[in-house]
Amino acid sequence: MALKLRRLSYALGAEVCDIDVSKPMGEAQFGEIYRAFLQYGILLFRNQDITREEHIDFSRRFGELDRHDSLPRDRRADHPELLMVTNEPNADGTPSDTRYTGRQWHSDMSFTTVPSLGSLLRCFAVPEVGGDTLFANMDAAYDALSDGMKKLIAGLHGIQLSGTRKIANEESGVVRAAEQRRLNPPVAQPIVRVHPETGRKALYIGEKVKRFDGMTEEESKPLIDYLVRHATRPDFVYRHQWRKDDILAWDNRCTMHQALGDFDETQLRHMERTTILGTPSGYVVANG
Ligand code: SIN
Repeated sequence: MALKLRRLSYALGAEVCDIDVSKPMGEAQFGEIYRAFLQYGILLFRNQDITREEHIDFSRRFGELDRHDSLPRDRRADHPELLMVTNEPNADGTPSDTRYTGRQWHSDMSFTTVPSLGSLLRCFAVPEVGGDTLFANMDAAYDALSDGMKKLIAGLHGIQLSGTRKIANEESGVVRAAEQRRLNPPVAQPIVRVHPETGRKALYIGEKVKRFDGMTEEESKPLIDYLVRHATRPDFVYRHQWRKDDILAWDNRCTMHQALGDFDETQLRHMERTTILGTPSGYVVANG
């Protein structure tokens, strides 16, 4: 049976309707899903009241899963394939380390030399209002640049830092950020990436990029700021309003995203994410 799709926005995304991702799925049906994933950049699966194991199993159809060794404090102890994004306090009552995850524009694992192919985020609880996630179409953002700008950025590499989360201002956050930087030395990634499957060029920028390799922060900042502002123009963006049991799958090679903090932090926002390993990209820089 043909896949039933409903577009989510002009910019990107489609909902896959009438599907239970925990049910057995043949190669042909998953092939259709994967083609839609490549075409739309984001796929939404609503009402997936499934187990953690089923979330992991479905994610494995997209590729090998990251066990999140570069973010050891953020993964579930019982399922290292699941990364927590939650404001639920820890068992000892201390605030969750992951409550500010994703608050900057970014593409998952861009600060490693094996950035992610894609991610599947499952929603367990959302606040009454807010807590949305924004997604930007980075193919479209690249295509819309002038030929002069495309030529200017063609050879540039952006130095990506890990441990830049808002929590870094607090005491436990300072320790965490230092650990993150030890585990993940600065990595330079091309500002323009060619998607290994579609062959399309995409901007690979975000708020973790601190400067261009070979340039100072002062020299780099105006162009980084321009490219982030350009890529996040409303016509390239989809805003997802979460419902419990949504699973959103996105392609990190041609989209970037940002979790919004526009909600009452006394209300629970709890997400769990699988991360699909991508192909090697970028290089470690000694003087990040
Ligand atoms: C993430 O960046 O993976 C988390 C996004 C979100 O919580 O909305």
